[in-house]
Amino acid sequence: MKKHKKIKNICCIGAGYVGGPTMSVIALKCPEIKVNVVDLNADRIAAWNDVNLQNLPIYEPGLDEVVSEARGRNLFFSTDINKAIEDADMIFIAVNTPTKNYGEGKGMAADLKFVELCARQIADVSTNDKIIVEKSTLPVRTAETLQTILKSNGNNVNFEVLSNPEFLAEGTAINDLLNADRVLIGGNNTELGQNAIKSLVDIYSNWLSPQQILTSNLWSSELSKLTANAFLAQRISSINALSALCEVTEADVDEVANAIGKDSRIGSKFLKASVGFGGSCFQKDILNLVYLCRHFNLPEVADYWEQVIILNDYQKHRFAKKIINTLFNTVSSKKIAFLGWAFKKNTNDTRESASIYVAERLIEDGAEIHVYDPKVSREKIKSDMRNLWELKGINEEIILLKLAQIKVYDEHFEAVKNSHAIAILTEWDEFKNYDWISIYKKMYKPAFLFDGRGILNIDKLKEIGFDFYSIGK
Ligand code: UDX
Ligand code: UDX
Repeated sequence: MKKHKKIKNICCIGAGYVGGPTMSVIALKCPEIKVNVVDLNADRIAAWNDVNLQNLPIYEPGLDEVVSEARGRNLFFSTDINKAIEDADMIFIAVNTPTKNYGEGKGMAADLKFVELCARQIADVSTNDKIIVEKSTLPVRTAETLQTILKSNGNNVNFEVLSNPEFLAEGTAINDLLNADRVLIGGNNTELGQNAIKSLVDIYSNWLSPQQILTSNLWSSELSKLTANAFLAQRISSINALSALCEVTEADVDEVANAIGKDSRIGSKFLKASVGFGGSCFQKDILNLVYLCRHFNLPEVADYWEQVIILNDYQKHRFAKKIINTLFNTVSSKKIAFLGWAFKKNTNDTRESASIYVAERLIEDGAEIHVYDPKVSREKIKSDMRNLWELKGINEEIILLKLAQIKVYDEHFEAVKNSHAIAILTEWDEFKNYDWISIYKKMYKPAFLFDGRGILNIDKLKEIGFDFYSIGK
């Protein structure tokens, strides 16, 4: 059996939330490997190269230190995709795979056009053998498509495709990468495939133990990523479903979650009731799973998983409806302050954030939304809403009117001042330490507070005078 290759040069296409942190950690832990991270987006690359580490394009605790150590040593960010492909022995594909918003599979299937473009570019440019690693979450059997495209390369080059799905969660990415529960590597059951797996195992072995590195066939690996996210999301939809039941039975969802979670077969993590899960993965991956099940003619299985999404939509709408009903059945011309816009704390990512949908509902009812988020910019918030309305086909004139109903502040006090109600959409730690007495004094009375994340102390806030609602209580 031929010996497997030692990797000296890595290229990663896609400098986003996954590619950026993952490659930074690989570069940190493997100083002998040169890591080139490339992206079509020149602004994003410029931000990765900014001398001021506060300007990195994504906010992730601990990322600045890792970048500061490895950047310029063996970690490089550039827009020269062809050169990076040519130089590499191993290429990670970490471009985004959003839900398709057109044509066949619209609203359900994953849009693989970026992945396909990468494969074509790799096939065009390569002059020596390479290992191609799927990092993006992909529908099961995508590796087959990649292999077909790559084979069309006329230069007699051999490409071996691996699947190495990312399990990191945003906000804890660096820790998740350094102390991974597991790394999964799937490959072909051939000598070349097994050798390629070994080359990637070598890289992770620089900081992880053999027990943390799992190997499997390609299809198990691809499917494991989709289903890991589906199982995680299912837990949240389960506890969110119970939160509605708790509210009408005087049970307390945190107490129920605590009691359930003490059963070691269930476990305590991922049982925090919320205004609904967001993020770039859960909804997209479940829709993708549902689409695959329908494709393979498994309607019952598809319906089962789809219910996780339906429940999540219900939870977001339930929260918005609660606000409207509590404010005497209308929020028209009322000022509702949003604390938090990101889909969870410690990230500036807002993809699929519940805040977007709650805002949409309240704006429809005439509310003015005043937002403060510690890490999300005004432009991002406006563009999140604009994108949603554009996708729904709403015309420009109305979009502009609706956008005027959103105001964004750099400071929390300005956002909550003179508001009729405050809604907590993200569980940022700083919200817990606000001077809630002063806030109360500056609000219209009755002062309503809706805690969509269950982070504030009910008794204390009620004592101050707030009319307080917390999910599941
Ligand atoms: C990742 C995964 O790749 C996705 O499959 C997973 O489900 C969610 O997380 P993420 O890193 O979060 O995506 O996406 P994003 O932050 O949008 O980064 C992707 C980057 O790829 C962008 O910077 C984009 O400019 C770049 N890109 C996209 C290219 O360089 N080339 C392309 O053809 C397409
Ligand atoms: C997720 C997976 O956790 C990760 O393994 C995968 O690689 C990518 O998708 P991410 O989307 O970054 O990571 O965040 P995650 O921490 O999973 O949170 C997703 C959403 O669920 C957030 O909106 C969060 O606020 C919400 N959530 C999480 C809850 O509402 N309750 C919980 O108990 C946990």
